[in-house]
Order: sequence, then C-alpha cells, then structure tokens
Amino acid sequence: MSRALFLALLVVAAQAVHLDFSKGLDGWEHSEESKWVGRFVAEVPASLEKKALKVPDKAKHYGISTVLKKAVDPAKDLVLQYDLKLGNGLSCGGAYIKFVTADTAFTPKGLKDDTPYTVMFGADKCGDTNKVHLILRHKSSKTGKVEEKHLKSPPFVETDTKTHVYTAILRASNNSYAVLVDGEEKKAGSLFEDFEPSINPPETIPDPEDKKPADWVDEARIPDPDAKKPEDWDEDAPMEIPDEDAKKPEGWLDEEPAEVDDPDAKKPEDWDEEEDGDWEAPKIANPKCEKGPGCGEWKRPNKPNPAYKGKWSAPMIDNPAYKGVWKPREIPNPDHVKDPAPLTNIGKVGAAAIEIWTMDDGYFFDNIVISNDVAEAEKVRAKTWEPKKKIEDKLEEEERKKAEKEAAKAAEKEGSKDDGEDKEGGEEEKKEDKEEEEDTYADEL
Ligand SMILES: *[C@@H]1O[C@H](CO)[C@@H](O)[C@H](O)[C@H]1NC(C)=O
Repeated sequence: MSRALFLALLVVAAQAVHLDFSKGLDGWEHSEESKWVGRFVAEVPASLEKKALKVPDKAKHYGISTVLKKAVDPAKDLVLQYDLKLGNGLSCGGAYIKFVTADTAFTPKGLKDDTPYTVMFGADKCGDTNKVHLILRHKSSKTGKVEEKHLKSPPFVETDTKTHVYTAILRASNNSYAVLVDGEEKKAGSLFEDFEPSINPPETIPDPEDKKPADWVDEARIPDPDAKKPEDWDEDAPMEIPDEDAKKPEGWLDEEPAEVDDPDAKKPEDWDEEEDGDWEAPKIANPKCEKGPGCGEWKRPNKPNPAYKGKWSAPMIDNPAYKGVWKPREIPNPDHVKDPAPLTNIGKVGAAAIEIWTMDDGYFFDNIVISNDVAEAEKVRAKTWEPKKKIEDKLEEEERKKAEKEAAKAAEKEGSKDDGEDKEGGEEEKKEDKEEEEDTYADEL
C-alpha cells in the first residue's frame, strides 16, 4: 500500500465531531423526564461573541442531548473536550458531559439518568468536593458485567469565571489516559493503574466465607503474667505529704481576719431596722494583710511524697500467643480477567448528553469535541478557546488597572483637603475610562 493511500484511509477512518451552539440548540433536544424541568438556552456570554449553552436557572435538573451522525469508536483512541465558563461560579452542581453509548433505540427525548454512557467527563463540585470526573463504563469480557471505573484523585475544576477547556485523552495504542485543563496536562497514566475499581479485577479476593477463628489471639501485648508486686511496694502511700521543712513566714498575722468591715461604709439614712433588719457594713479585704506575708491561721503546705508508688501493675510484654491481625484468606477472583484492550469494551459514543443538577446558574458549555484524533482537539482549542481567553484576559487586565486607578484616586482623595475640586476631576476621569473601554471592545469585535 502506498503511503499516500494509507494516510488517506487513516483520515477516512478517524472520526471528528465538533459541536457548538453558535446557531442555537439545533439538533439538541431536552429530555421528557418529568422531573427535569430545567431548560437550557443558547446565549452569548457577557463579554464573548458567540452563543453557548447556558444554564439559566439554579436548583433545577437539566437533561439535553444530541445524537451523532456517526458513532465514534474509542478503540482507535478517543479524545473528548469541551469548554466551560462558570459565569457565577460553581458552589454545588454538575458541569460534566455524558458521552452516551451508541444505541439505535436511544432518542434524546428518552434520556434518563441511567442511560448507559461510554465516558462521563468533566466538572463536578459541591462544597469541598471538587473533581474533573473521568468515568468509563467498562464491560468485562469474562462476566459481561458493566462497571463504572472512576479515575482516582482526579484534577480540580477551575472555579473562576473565565472560560476553561477540559480535555480527556484515552489512548488505545498504549492503554494510557490524560486529563488536560486549558491544554495543560493535569493528570496522566495507565488505564490499568489509575482507575477504581480496577479495570482489570485483581487475581485474588478475600474469601467472604472465611471467618476469624474463635481462639484467634489478636492482642499483641499483655501484662507480664510472671511479674509480681515487689515486697516493699506500698500502694497506700499518699501522693503528697505535709512539708515539714516549711516555716511560717515572719510577720504572719495570725490574729488578723482576711476581711474586715468597710470603715467608710455608713448606714443609709432610710434604713429601717424593723423592716430591713440590723444594718451590717459590707466587707472589704483586710488592708493589714496586703502589707504582710499573710493573715489568719497559717497552714503547712504539702510536697510530693518520695515514697509514693500508686497502684502496682505488671509491665507489658509481647504476647507469645499473638497471631497477628486476622485477615481472611485470599481465593482466586472469579471475575479476574486481563483485558488487553479495555477501550474496545466501553462501547462507541453515539450521543452527547448534559444531564445535571445544579445550585448555580449562568454557566456555559461550548465546543464539545468527540474525536479519534488528539490533534483535532488541539485545533479546536486554538480556534475557539484561545480567542475567548484573549478577550477574557484583556478584560481582566482592564479591570485590574481600573481597580488600581480607583484605589490610587481614593488614597489621593484621603490626602487632599480640597474635596470639591477633586471630585470633579475624578468624574471626568471616569468618563474617559469608559470611552477607552468601548474602544477596546470595538477592536475585539
Ligand atoms: C502513551 O503514549 C503517549 C503518546 O503516544 C505518551 O505521551 C504517553 O506517555 C504513553 N503513556 C504510557 C503510560 O505509556
């Protein structure tokens, strides 16, 4: 076969789908699931130029999908990509895409939460949980069981309000995967090592029938049974004894009470002995005591008892009967199989679905790529995400400059005494800023 012909065949064989919403929701249909009342809309995000798929309302369940003209077969490498702009952030909700397994019986109206997918990929965040999911539904060639295999410790979702592009690469050539955010590799490795449960179930499993024997000894340390309390060990000796060396400090006032009647207090004029009882002056600290080392009865302080031993207990020793931590024995795993090509067992991608529940609104999906060719995803990123990034970075820079200017102005105002004139100047400057902003917009558009 000539090289040209071979390349031509390759090009034909590779599938590439790029879905955007610049022309609206053409080809996409909401699910008829009765509880999914959320309705996506196609709208141009503030500051950007083309329509994207918007989540208009919070606290709703959404389901929408589109069937691909031709299913994409992951057996020849699979790259999945989309971009996401969290206009109002993501406090709690899904922002991922389900790449639905090809099935002629599937219709978008019939999309359900358990519609089988080949890959679920993308952002999901709630509170401290923050994941870019990558989940494969893999079918065991031995048992026929389909199981969700989750990427362990997935990368984090970018939570600012700019557009970020998420890419998943599944390589059939060497059974590897990679997750990129904004074209940068965040996680990569082997399909056989980084998913849970493991794509290839282990050779052995703990025997569920095995039980810990009744006489199993799992105490590693025990009190020495041969140890005896020494003859001279007095368990009754007190912890503290009076300190016989202590002496009453000189100048101690044994006869003086700690408190005395306040000499300045007077019986109130309206005091009625019959009604109120005998009047007594309130007590104050005895001023004589403040000068000397102390007043009243002197008490001998205690000191630690050198003979104190407390309760005797035998020293701990290694238990000679210890058998270790009990574990059930391992038996051969009936599900064990080595799948040399797991990507041939996750099904073809026949549709793209966004089926989410979210507590946030104002976020946008766009530029969904489903392809056998990693270069295709790169091309789409360059063509669609980079221009968005340029606009958003510029805006951010302008906002930063504006904030700086305002902060400088505020500082200046604080320092100046002539308030009136200053204000006028400020107003004018603001007007100029606005004009400048409009100019840059015109450039972009
Ligand atoms: C698989 O191949 C790709 C490119 O062909 C390479 O970047 C990656 O490091 C390889 N991964 C593994 C786990 O071999």
